[in-house]
Amino acid sequence: MSPKPYSRQEGSLQIKLLIDLCATSESETSAGSDVIWGLTQTPKSLPPKYFYDDLGSALFEKICDLPEYYPTRTEAEILHQYAGEIARITGACELAELGSGSSTKTRLLLDAYDALGYPLHYLPIDVSAGILESSAQQLLAEYPSIQVQGLVSTYELALKQLTPTQLPTRMICFLGSTLGNLNSQECDLFFSQITGALAVGEYFLLGVDLQKPKELLEAAYNDSQGVTAQFNLNVLEHLNQRFQGNFNPLLFEHWAFYNQQKHQIEMHLRCLHSHTVRLEALDLTVKLESGETIMTEISRKFDPSIIQQELQAQGLKPLQFWTDPQQWFGLILCQV
Ligand code: AVJ
Repeated sequence: MSPKPYSRQEGSLQIKLLIDLCATSESETSAGSDVIWGLTQTPKSLPPKYFYDDLGSALFEKICDLPEYYPTRTEAEILHQYAGEIARITGACELAELGSGSSTKTRLLLDAYDALGYPLHYLPIDVSAGILESSAQQLLAEYPSIQVQGLVSTYELALKQLTPTQLPTRMICFLGSTLGNLNSQECDLFFSQITGALAVGEYFLLGVDLQKPKELLEAAYNDSQGVTAQFNLNVLEHLNQRFQGNFNPLLFEHWAFYNQQKHQIEMHLRCLHSHTVRLEALDLTVKLESGETIMTEISRKFDPSIIQQELQAQGLKPLQFWTDPQQWFGLILCQV
């Protein structure tokens, strides 16, 4: 098809699967090696991507609506106010989104590009096939001319697979402060993968949760309805299903606190009685002591000037920083 970027055309949808959702298949040989690594370390840990099976993604959506969980609504507020400015800076632009989930906040960007008459090319990337498919279908119904090319994939794989865009430029969006799940070393590696996936002049839009009083942070990860606890415990059900495991979630409790020195929420599952767990598909047996914890997530809280220096150092030049009146959340637009 000859690229006629500004002509109207009918919407289209394409979804590609880059990962196997069933780890018993031969093709995904490295699947679960990260689980084995984490559960054989002291202290034990699990990669946060295992939160997001279809139920986990649905629970996360519920978290986003909780009164205590301020990040989603604060970031949406910022996007609502500045999406037009973002669209004016980038011009017509393909939007690739890492961890797209329900694509709720993305609509604010799509609306802004739409309002300027730009074509909508959207590339959602998510490890959860169910939520990717359903939100892509919904976008197609809402934006008649949108082109959606979804990837069921981890970030690493997807960033290696991006094909050249038909539009004048591209923006990779990484919203919701998912960056906070990466420690500073992983963060550097991730930024270099972003730079590697983009051409000079292309854009990176990053949402980051900012440092704030401990009470506010701890409330956001210990909600009164217990949804965050359910979300945390669901990782065990996901591992059971994915790797033929026999975790009993009743033998664990949710534990989350703010580590002031490291400026990060640490989320764990605390084992209530000593026992042994087996993950058949990984040929892994794990012994857990009473009181022992499995760290399931860190959620770093950033300092705006430090994170911008780090981006700059990785070749991602910050063009603009936007925040809310309380300075709880930040949105950074960078250019390679
Ligand atoms: C999706 C990683 C940004 O760290 O706040 C929410 C995940 N964990 N409640 C976060 C999460 C517990 C969330 N991120």
